[in-house]
Amino acid sequence: MVSRSKLGLGGHSFIEPLGNDPKAPFDEQCDIVTSCLDHGICLMDTTYYQERIALGTILNKLQRREEARIMAWNFFKERGKEAELVGFTPYQSHHVDIMLSELQSEYVDVLVIHSHNDKKKLRQELELASQWRLEGKVKEIALGMVRREHLELLPDNHPISYILAPYNFFNQSSAVVFAEAREMGFKVCALSPFVRGWKLREIADDPAYAADILLRWVAAQDVIDHVIVSMRRREWVQANLESMARGPLNSKELLKLNKFREVNL
Ligand SMILES: NC(=O)c1ccc[n+]([C@@H]2O[C@H](COP(=O)([O-])OP(=O)(O)OC[C@H]3O[C@@H](n4cnc5c(N)ncnc54)[C@H](OP(=O)(O)O)[C@@H]3O)[C@@H](O)[C@H]2O)c1
Repeated sequence: MVSRSKLGLGGHSFIEPLGNDPKAPFDEQCDIVTSCLDHGICLMDTTYYQERIALGTILNKLQRREEARIMAWNFFKERGKEAELVGFTPYQSHHVDIMLSELQSEYVDVLVIHSHNDKKKLRQELELASQWRLEGKVKEIALGMVRREHLELLPDNHPISYILAPYNFFNQSSAVVFAEAREMGFKVCALSPFVRGWKLREIADDPAYAADILLRWVAAQDVIDHVIVSMRRREWVQANLESMARGPLNSKELLKLNKFREVNL
């Protein structure tokens, strides 16, 4: 049996915006998901509703739903804005069934609640998510885009087991909240190791080399349990797995990366 990778597949892999390459054709998307599952990349994030539909369709076609661990966020289809990427909506009672239908699944492995500062509303969402967990529609519950103050809003009996936030060499602002979350017993997912791929060319002429060192940097941080990367090309899966296998940066690579920071940040 293949062991589970620390690497997760991001849902932006299945949409046109927020990346470098155009959306991959359906067959290539199926190849990407197949290659991920074959190599232990089971954690699959879906943020926007379009991503839930895409991943649900792919897993159904591959007949491999049970092998994936699907994360799903509260971003929903809005009338008149079906083609857009709209902002998050706090969970309401009808939302889980919409998500399950889009995912063609009977459950979500990790339901993500997008953080905000409205304590009362957040507690209502936590209660709703707990209810869905009791009903078997949700397995685990996460808090996404977390900042330190959000952890303070959680009641003692909260159901959260994961937290997620962007975290990469360029944006290390989540380091403190990640460390606190780890101490509180949460699993931590770092998002966007390549800042959507838009920073790769700033680090090196060869984006493959830049991707390698950025991924190895984030994966080596003690506070990280998972790192979620979007991949619109089938070759990125192998490339990123090889980076993970190479392990932490050596002192020369680390020096190079830090020199880059001195010059550019
Ligand atoms: N960033 C956020 O605020 C946020 C919020 C919620 C959820 N997320 C989750 O986090 C996931 C990952 O974040 P992200 O999509 O923002 O950014 P990312 O994973 O940092 O960057 C993805 C980009 O990196 C490129 N790439 C991947 N592997 C590569 C390789 N080996 N060599 C060269 N280029 C490579 C991809 O290019 P191609 O386009 O060529 O494939 C893709 O455009 C999202 O898909 C989503 O599930 C992020």
